[in-house]
Amino acid sequence: MKILGIETSCDETAASVVTDDARGEARILSNVVLSQLDEHRPYGGVVPEIAARSHLDHIDRIVEEAMSEANVDFSELDAVAATGGPGLIGGVIVGVMTAKAIALTHNLPFVAVNHLEGHALTVRLNEQVDFPYLLLLVSGGHCQLLAVEGIGKYKRLGTTIDDALGEAFDKSAKLLGLGYPGGPHVEKAALKATNPDRFKLPSPMKGKPGCDFSFSGLKTAVRQAAEALPPGPFKEEDLNDLCAAFQTAAADSLVNRCKNAIKMFKQDYPGGNTLVVAGGVAANQAIRSRLTELCNKEKMQMVAPPLKLCTDNGAMIAWAGLEAFKAGQRDDLSFAPRPRWPLDPDAPKAAYAGGKKA
Ligand code: KG4
Ligand code: ZN
Repeated sequence: MKILGIETSCDETAASVVTDDARGEARILSNVVLSQLDEHRPYGGVVPEIAARSHLDHIDRIVEEAMSEANVDFSELDAVAATGGPGLIGGVIVGVMTAKAIALTHNLPFVAVNHLEGHALTVRLNEQVDFPYLLLLVSGGHCQLLAVEGIGKYKRLGTTIDDALGEAFDKSAKLLGLGYPGGPHVEKAALKATNPDRFKLPSPMKGKPGCDFSFSGLKTAVRQAAEALPPGPFKEEDLNDLCAAFQTAAADSLVNRCKNAIKMFKQDYPGGNTLVVAGGVAANQAIRSRLTELCNKEKMQMVAPPLKLCTDNGAMIAWAGLEAFKAGQRDDLSFAPRPRWPLDPDAPKAAYAGGKKA
């Protein structure tokens, strides 16, 4: 089976062709990602209007590149998949309209993929990871713990009551004068810290029951610690130590929340023994190794996608599209792009949630 996947929900214009063989083993034939970072950098974050226009300018060329790199003709595809949400709606519309046009022109089935499901299933592209598994989804817009029961079947165990962790990385980096996106900059600075224990920052939600998250307080604590430093430009060693403190506090919080989630997961799914970590923040090595440590203690295995498949890309959408297509999903060309699209629509709102997160 060969599927073209298109991703345009945030600031990457991406397309990829993924194939699987008779044994279900996947291969990425192409994975073209055009980052809009340079266009958004001056604003310190993604500007939705700029993102939508840029997707529109580049999507045709990116799809062409993905097809020619894969050496595949449209007539050889089994289906075309695109992120149908959640995300910045202007961008999602561009990707969905492009996929629908290709589907209509080449008489192919169309599959609308939930972007979060793309992150959730990516590990299965490279490794055999059976359902059910526990998923920690940590990205720029989302921070959730879910039980993944199967394709399209999710039970949310916990979510953030305010900011997503990626957002906290980005906002903390911004107030420290580091570049966008903040995650990789903070990670790099933290690695150079000479006194990583110098700043003590609070580890949000640590010790509280359940497995919800909160990261806005940690971002405020970074700001207060930065304001307490001598006036003038930050010294590099202060910056490095502060980034290390932020990363440690964030990782402590994740480990504590995941520990509770593992207990809840094992009660509901006695055979389940895998924690999958996905989304942009899963690219962070310090966080990966802290979670591996936790899993070793809890007799779980920790699995995360290869680094370049953690952040947004087309292969994750092609793969999730392929899995959904094989499970029988077909979407009508009247499918309406969805700015919000929770993986578990029945989950209750998190306590104090402002309602802006899916
Ligand atoms: O999954 P993603 O590419 O987009 C969303 O769906 O949100 O995630 C982007 C987020 C950004 O907030 C970025 O700062 C964060 O992932 N990120 C990282 C790292 N690489 C990307 N956070 C921490 N450490 C990293 N190495
Ligand atoms: Zn994403």
